[in-house]
Amino acid sequence: MLRYALAVVAGLFLASTVTVVVADRNLDIPFPFNCSTKTVCSGLRIKLPNENEEYNAVYDDYVDGALYFNVSNKVGNNLTLLIGGLENNRFRIIIEEPDHHRYKLQYSLEKEPTNVSLTVNAISEFYVIASDKFKNKVIVHYNPLSIEFYHDDALATVLEGNRIIFQNTEEDQDFTFGVRFVGAERLIGLHEHVDDLSLRHTADYSIDPYRLRNTDFGMVKYDLNTTESMYGSVPVIYGFGANTSGIFLHNAAEMFIDIDNNRKSAYFMVNGGTLDLFVLLGPSLKETVRQYVDLTGKPHLPQLWALGYHQCR
Ligand SMILES: *[C@@H]1O[C@H](CO)[C@@H](O)[C@H](O)[C@H]1NC(C)=O
Ligand SMILES: *[C@@H]1O[C@H](CO)[C@@H](O)[C@H](O)[C@H]1NC(C)=O
Ligand SMILES: *[C@@H]1O[C@H](CO)[C@@H](O)[C@H](O)[C@H]1NC(C)=O
Ligand SMILES: *[C@@H]1O[C@H](CO)[C@@H](O)[C@H](O)[C@H]1NC(C)=O
Ligand SMILES: *[C@@H]1O[C@H](CO)[C@@H](O)[C@H](O)[C@H]1NC(C)=O
Ligand SMILES: *[C@@H]1O[C@H](CO)[C@@H](O)[C@H](O)[C@H]1NC(C)=O
Repeated sequence: MLRYALAVVAGLFLASTVTVVVADRNLDIPFPFNCSTKTVCSGLRIKLPNENEEYNAVYDDYVDGALYFNVSNKVGNNLTLLIGGLENNRFRIIIEEPDHHRYKLQYSLEKEPTNVSLTVNAISEFYVIASDKFKNKVIVHYNPLSIEFYHDDALATVLEGNRIIFQNTEEDQDFTFGVRFVGAERLIGLHEHVDDLSLRHTADYSIDPYRLRNTDFGMVKYDLNTTESMYGSVPVIYGFGANTSGIFLHNAAEMFIDIDNNRKSAYFMVNGGTLDLFVLLGPSLKETVRQYVDLTGKPHLPQLWALGYHQCR
């Protein structure tokens, strides 16, 4: 019996050596993937778009209560930007490339959230201001693109257009963007990392950014207090403070996230798919978490018998 068990374990070891372990650190094989070995991170982490690559917006249209913009830079890259209002103090931003098809994530939202119409309050040659009827407001500055989100006239979250990059190669469709949580005392979220609740500062490049990609580290061992990925990837960040806001990136690709605790900002480097971002304007932490959970669903209450003593299988 013991010999049989050992054979099964050895078989698993061999099988996983071939299939899983080669792809990720497991069973003490040196970890081959980190920021320096992934081009989405090594190439884009320190890249600041120059003046010609910075995106500018032009207000294009208003359809069914949502705002549409054409976004372009001087080197000829074109994007489209959609900003829609959602019930419960939320906005949705979708940035797409008209010239390239990108994968759109399916099945991860529990339901399509209910739209709330935006009303355009002001348009100038520099910006457009729109609001919903629940004290939420968005200001889109055109040059360079920057999108500010307010709740009850308090600026909460900013999508920083000066860090937007979209690039297409044979293998990858990487994109980046930055978000700042104005007035936050600390950033929390990016769950499933073996780390403190408050996200640590990575923007000085002394340690790797947080990596989101489901890996099998927990099977044998993992290091404590690191930004390495584990078996779950949750692209949610909360800017916690007197007023709390948050974001959820509706995207399942591998991504790295640099945290700047001085500016209370996050810089996302994403390996593919669309920039489909939900902005959650709280204003309490409890409401912000609810606004996120409402999008992807709540866990089921397990059966009573499942809560008892567990024997390892
Ligand atoms: C990243 O991985 C490479 C190759 O495995 C390794 O040489 C390097 O030390 C790693 N860097 C970090 C910061 O872990
Ligand atoms: C935005 O882009 C579309 C498609 O290229 C074009 O039809 C429309 O005129 C543009 N709108 C503005 C305001 O430039
Ligand atoms: C971007 O749009 C401009 C103006 O519509 C057009 O001249 C240019 O060719 C477009 N760029 C690409 C890469 O298609
Ligand atoms: C909700 O708004 C989005 C744009 O923000 C639009 O694509 C979608 O069709 C709208 N859904 C409904 C049910 O009106
Ligand atoms: C929090 O929001 C309220 C408005 O709801 C505002 O008066 C207050 O200044 C905000 N506090 C901070 C620290 O931003
Ligand atoms: C991890 O961090 C916690 C809190 O910052 C600290 O108490 C603990 O000693 C650290 N563990 C290791 C192994 O570094």
